[in-house]
Amino acid sequence: MKYIEVSLDDVHSLDIFKRFYEEVLESSFDKNELETYDQLLDNLRKSEEGKHGLNSYHIIISLDDEFLLGGAIYDYFIDTNSGIIEYIATNNKVKKKSVASQTFQMVNKLLNEEARDNGFERISYITCELEKEINGKQSNHYFWEKFGFKTLNFHYIQPPLDDTKEVVDIMNFGIITKAPFATYNKEYIDKEELKSILHDYYHYTMRIEDVENCEYYIKMCREIDSKDQIGFI
Ligand SMILES: CC(C)(COP(=O)(O)OP(=O)(O)OC[C@H]1O[C@@H](n2cnc3c(N)ncnc32)[C@H](O)[C@@H]1OP(=O)(O)O)[C@@H](O)C(=O)NCCC(=O)NCCS
Repeated sequence: MKYIEVSLDDVHSLDIFKRFYEEVLESSFDKNELETYDQLLDNLRKSEEGKHGLNSYHIIISLDDEFLLGGAIYDYFIDTNSGIIEYIATNNKVKKKSVASQTFQMVNKLLNEEARDNGFERISYITCELEKEINGKQSNHYFWEKFGFKTLNFHYIQPPLDDTKEVVDIMNFGIITKAPFATYNKEYIDKEELKSILHDYYHYTMRIEDVENCEYYIKMCREIDSKDQIGFI
């Protein structure tokens, strides 16, 4: 298995990304959960042009020769030294053959390298959305739990990804850390860190300009602030 990182300067990688989008992502996610191909490329363009400072956006795809196995799209957020896996998906033809597990390990490794490049000992957190249901089928919590992700006990809301899409509020938010210095322990995560992660995800990934005034972000923050601690389900 080899990995390529998609880059706007690399036409071959863009061809592979287009195939990944059409052959894997579109059949793996509900319309309201999936950004358009152009939106994903726009996120990558802004990241490559440095418009998001030290925050970054990555698309990696795994291949066996030219056979497309799967891939992942993830961000690094500098303020919390955290990563979020926006999408991870495997080609239907090779499911349950550890493609996604190996892809996750690769993302983990790359995030730790990026954290070190930014002066940290290692990545502080990795987060993800935990779909309770995908395309009407059962949840994929089994996948995240295998790696030690825990579900946070607040009501996560994914804002509409654009004017043609609807809000998604049937997902949970998962988190994992192995960093001893992270403000997270067996029982809870620091609330300000969590709000910062959600803010950056809304802004850099889901392109919400004015996050502070976004009704869904405000709703989540109110709930988080109203609780003594944000722990795990
Ligand atoms: C979830 C998904 C990424 C797993 O990909 P995969 O390459 O088949 O995963 P792996 O082979 O690495 O399996 C990882 C673990 O999940 C288990 N698993 C995989 N599919 C499963 C299923 N349908 N039900 C129960 N367990 C399952 C595997 O047995 C394995 O556990 P093990 O190592 O203890 O045996 C893939 O099914 C997919 O693309 N789903 C649609 C998109 C999605 O839900 N992405 C995740 C959210 S972003």
